[in-house]
Amino acid sequence: MDILTNKANGIFTITFNRPNKKNAITAAMYQAMADALKDAEGDAEVRVILFTGKPEIFTAGNDLEDFMNNPPRRRNSPVYQFMRNLSQATKPIVAAVSGPAVGIGTTMLMHCDFVYAADNAKFSMPFAKLGLCPEFSSSMLLPQIAGYQRAAEKLMLGEAFSAQEACAMGLVNKVLPAAEVLAFAQAQAAKLAALPTSSLRVTKRLMKGKELAAIKAKMEEESKFFGKLLVSKEAKEAFTAFFEKRKPDFTKFK
Ligand code: COA
Repeated sequence: MDILTNKANGIFTITFNRPNKKNAITAAMYQAMADALKDAEGDAEVRVILFTGKPEIFTAGNDLEDFMNNPPRRRNSPVYQFMRNLSQATKPIVAAVSGPAVGIGTTMLMHCDFVYAADNAKFSMPFAKLGLCPEFSSSMLLPQIAGYQRAAEKLMLGEAFSAQEACAMGLVNKVLPAAEVLAFAQAQAAKLAALPTSSLRVTKRLMKGKELAAIKAKMEEESKFFGKLLVSKEAKEAFTAFFEKRKPDFTKFK
C-alpha cells in the first residue's frame, strides 16, 4: 500500500509509503488520500488529521512518469479531488515533515494548520524548473505566508530550502530533531483531539472562511495554465532529463 491510513484516539494518520520511489505520488495515491479525507470529514470519531512520510523522505511530489503519461489535470482528477478536500477540510490538519518535500509536498503544507519539520527536511517547489507553474493556490498562499520577494525566489528558482528557512518564513511552526518530529506532531494532534470539535471547527472557519473562495478561484486559474504547460516542449524536456539523469536544456526553446 503506497498510502497508509490509521485511526487511533481521534487522530487519523495518512502516511506516504512508497519509499523506493521517494514517495512520489501517483494518481492512485491521490485518489486514496482524497477518499480518506472525505471519509475522515464524515467520521465523528476523527477529530484531527495527521500527514506524515518516511524519516528520510516526505514526498518527491507528483510522480513524473504520471505527469508524462496522464498529463491533463481536470477538475475531477484525483489530485484535484485531494487538494480540494484538503483545502476545504473543516477538521484540524497537522503535518510532520522529514526529508525532502518536493512540489505538491510543499504546496499541500500551505493548506495544513500546523506544520512540524525535522532538521533534515528540505522544501522545494521546482515548478518553473520543470516547465510548469505553481498550482493549488500556492501562487497566492506563499506570498501571503512569506511575503512577495521570498515567495518569488522560491517559486521562480525552485531551489530547495531548509527547515530553518521554512520556519523563518512562516511555512513551518517548529523545527525539531529528526528523531522527535513525528512524536511531537502526534502530541500536538492529541492536544487538538482533546479539545471541543465544535470550537476548533468554528475557529478554523473564522480564520479561513473568507479565504476559501479566493483559494478555489486561484486553483482554477492556476490549473488552466498548468494544464497547458504540462504538455509543453519544455516540460517534456524536463521530465525526460530527470529520468535520463541529466540537466535539462531549455535554451533550444524560444
Ligand atoms: N516521480 C517519479 N519517480 C521519482 C520521483 C518522481 N517525482 N522522484 C524520485 N523518483 C524515483 C527515481 O526515478 C528513482 O527511481 P529508480 O530507483 O527506479 O531510478 C528513485 O525514485 C530514487 O530517486 P533518486 O532521485 O535516485 O533519489 P535521491 O535521494 O537522489 O533524490 C529527490 C531524492 C526527491 C531529491 C529526487 O528524487 C528528486 O528531485 N525527485 C524529483 C522531484 C520532482 O521534480 N518532483 C515533481 C515536483 S512538481
